[in-house]
Amino acid sequence: MTLRDFIPAANQGADPGLYELENQALDPEGILWTELEKAAPWEDRTLVDLGCGSGFWLPKYHSAHQLIGVEPDESLLPLARARTSQAEVRHGSAEHLPLEAESVDVVHARFAYFFPSRHLDPTPGLNEVARVLRPGGRLVVIDNDGLHGEFAQLLGASAPAQRQGHGDYSTRWWAQRGATTTEVMSSWRFTSRDDLEAVLRLEFGEVADPWLAANPQAVGLSYGYLLHTWTRP
Ligand SMILES: C[S@@+](CC[C@H](N)C(=O)[O-])C[C@H]1O[C@@H](n2cnc3c(N)ncnc32)[C@H](O)[C@@H]1O
Repeated sequence: MTLRDFIPAANQGADPGLYELENQALDPEGILWTELEKAAPWEDRTLVDLGCGSGFWLPKYHSAHQLIGVEPDESLLPLARARTSQAEVRHGSAEHLPLEAESVDVVHARFAYFFPSRHLDPTPGLNEVARVLRPGGRLVVIDNDGLHGEFAQLLGASAPAQRQGHGDYSTRWWAQRGATTTEVMSSWRFTSRDDLEAVLRLEFGEVADPWLAANPQAVGLSYGYLLHTWTRP
């Protein structure tokens, strides 16, 4: 199946091993997870991790009744499928969900597909998510906060952020579609300086260098998220 909306991830698609370190360092205090559960509880429900990549987060949803990962990158599917026997991982994408209509309670999209910008309109994917959600079901999009925290400073200096437009572009896009947005301040904590440097260079290239020079002892940084929550009428 050709998935025309599939755009290989520059970070995970290029270096899944290093992206594993990146995921391991995220949200050490579990602040984000508490907010995700508040936004749309998944215990005993059907949850889809859309754009699940190598499936790093799938085991965290163990209390779901049914757990489905959807991923367009065929090179990542075996990694995701090996992550937990509880999840069924299907080949698909935001605009082509291999799911029945009104069969899902919660969809999570974590840094996947929903990157609204002046050049990219993810409305087709939102329409497809609306098709598979039950009435009252929720889509929670986990996005970077482009305005608050040290990660946002790096993001603001990077080329993708400049293409997207002002730091609150995605919040305005979601508000126009009736979604609510919650700001969550968390952190990134690595076990070594080498890991931090490698991940920052994967994400930001040479944009990371001035920040690393100005923070020579750092093994982590503050990291703001935006959770955009859209409820199916
Ligand atoms: C930055 S990675 C994040 C992976 C995973 N959500 C995580 O947090 O570990 C972005 C993921 O989105 C996937 N992706 C790319 N285009 C997509 C689309 N049209 N629909 C759904 N996922 C897509 C990529 O293949 C990749 O797995």
